[in-house]
Amino acid sequence: MSILKVARIGNPILRRRAGEVPRAAIGSPELERLIEDMTETMVEYDGVGLAAPQVHEPLRLAVLQVPADDEQEEIPLMVLINPVVTPLPSEKVSGWEGCLSVPDLRGMVTRPDRVRLQALDREGKPIELEASGFHARVIQHECDHLDGVIYIDRMDDLSTLSFLPEFERYVVTDGDVECV
Ligand code: NI
Repeated sequence: MSILKVARIGNPILRRRAGEVPRAAIGSPELERLIEDMTETMVEYDGVGLAAPQVHEPLRLAVLQVPADDEQEEIPLMVLINPVVTPLPSEKVSGWEGCLSVPDLRGMVTRPDRVRLQALDREGKPIELEASGFHARVIQHECDHLDGVIYIDRMDDLSTLSFLPEFERYVVTDGDVECV
């Protein structure tokens, strides 16, 4: 396995719509290797999600995982191939997000609290689930990457944008906030 280089904003690959993963590629050694490398890269950089365009692969593929020891709900490793996210009727909620492609920054983003996710897993089996709360936020953040959308595009108040040390000093002074 390898730790992959993460593209940062300004790199055009982050702004393109990624292409569908061909059905025939699912389960191939090349795609499995990419999934393993993306997972290792996400863990190495303390991310809770990573989309393929962030590692210079223009494919509709994302991984996400929130470790058990975090204050947020645990999300076991999920591999999403060609995901489709549909907001469900719910209130919109604000939460802090960060992104490995926008290093050392945090910003407040308002998103639907509940979504339906349809995707294929790494074996090509259908995934269909409803998610809420932080899980829904991570899914939306990662799937946005597949359409060339970055969380800062979704911020309705840029004044919350903070560098990480200032975020920890002035915004979150009472503990940890898990960011996407
Ligand atoms: Ni991101």
